[in-house]
Amino acid sequence: MFSDESFFKKYGGNYLKGAGYTIFLAFVGVLAGALIGAALALMKLSKTKLFKWVAVIYIEYVRGTPLLVQIFLVYFGSTALNLNINALTAGCIALALNSGAYVAEIIRAGINAVNKGQLEAARSLGMNQMEAMRFIIMPQAIKNILPALGNEFVTVIKESSVVSVIGVSELMFQAGVVQGASFKPFLPIVLVSMVYFVLTFTLSRLVGVAERRMSTSD
Ligand code: ARG
Repeated sequence: MFSDESFFKKYGGNYLKGAGYTIFLAFVGVLAGALIGAALALMKLSKTKLFKWVAVIYIEYVRGTPLLVQIFLVYFGSTALNLNINALTAGCIALALNSGAYVAEIIRAGINAVNKGQLEAARSLGMNQMEAMRFIIMPQAIKNILPALGNEFVTVIKESSVVSVIGVSELMFQAGVVQGASFKPFLPIVLVSMVYFVLTFTLSRLVGVAERRMSTSD
């Protein structure tokens, strides 16, 4: 299977290019997703009913429908609205909107996981709700949130493969290109799985290191 040495010479560039797009998609998706998620988490925790319900409905809807469908919604929706956005932009938007819903839950869970007594203690020391959040709750919540965000990044690297359906030339799309050009169905897929694995394995090790660093200060 690996006998054809020129295979790597011929198609290595496809995988490199694909990996570039995949990392870009995941990076933009999670970064924008983190902003959307932070806003949604605050809305969901807010006392204003309207904010709360908008956030709840958004999160439930996004988590309850397939990413594949959401990508088509954004891509064809933008055409229907006469917004001329290319596939890469649509892919980034779809991943960000999707990731936002998951990040919102990560942040909310991270905040809720901080012992209730911490808030009560802060309040009884005379801090108001804002100060207690800022100086007592958030510094502890961040230790729950950051590692989970790292894992979200790993997830989005994998999920970005779905964006290949609208023709963004990320890893999965490139694997299809190589299949067609080489007339080999299997080898290109084996290779792409290895590239994904190298990306996610490296990243999850880094997340593990960061997690241990943070827990040492406890
Ligand atoms: N594959 C699932 C879907 O299509 C999960 C998406 C997970 N997304 C995330 N940002 N964690 O909905």
